Amino acid sequence: MGVEENSVIENIKARRSVREYIDKDINDEDIKTIIDAGIHAPSGFDSQPWFFVVVKNREMMKRMSDHCKPRLLAMLDEATNDAAVEFKKELANDEFHIFYDAPVLIIVLGNNASVTADYDCALCAENMMLAAHSMGIGSCWIGTGCFIQDNPEILEELGITPDYRVIAPIVFGYPTTETEEIPKKEPEVVWIY
Ligand SMILES: Cc1cc2nc3c(=O)[nH]c(=O)nc-3n(C[C@H](O)[C@H](O)[C@H](O)COP(=O)(O)O)c2cc1C
Repeated sequence: MGVEENSVIENIKARRSVREYIDKDINDEDIKTIIDAGIHAPSGFDSQPWFFVVVKNREMMKRMSDHCKPRLLAMLDEATNDAAVEFKKELANDEFHIFYDAPVLIIVLGNNASVTADYDCALCAENMMLAAHSMGIGSCWIGTGCFIQDNPEILEELGITPDYRVIAPIVFGYPTTETEEIPKKEPEVVWIY
């Protein structure tokens, strides 16, 4: 079997960030399958420092979005690159929802006692997004969602203790359209023989 025919590689290449979802719930068994794929990621010292919060409450997600938006806008205040300018326009729109009205948000948190938690949770997050893609479920990592970290009320409602920090807020849902592989930049590689 050639590399191009390998279904794992095909799945990796075809995953895209999805920002438009149909109004359909993801059942809890499928969410458990996605989290199970996440926890099979490698972790430093096999510390498995992750903790997950699954949010299906849309009112809660809207409140989190409303909390995070102005903070991101303030952070991007000085940014002038094209992508930032476009994003600032979207953020300024009252209708803009940082979680794209997705039916499910899974927040991957890392234990503060682990020195490798950022790496471990990022690997866990990618496993989750790839597993979801293989199940026909779209996803998007929403870094903007990390701003909930400075809202004690929201953290309490989500059951997040000071032992953990938000690393990867990821939305999941069924995409409105099929995702396709898009070209990526050529990697810069140094080969030493
Ligand atoms: C750490 C991180 C933070 C991100 N934050 C956001 C975000 O706040 N909002 C968003 O729409 N996409 C976010 N993304 C998705 C990226 O924009 C996306 O991965 C990138 O444009 C490449 O597209 P692809 O995932 O379709 O390959 C984030 C991705 C990563 C890895």
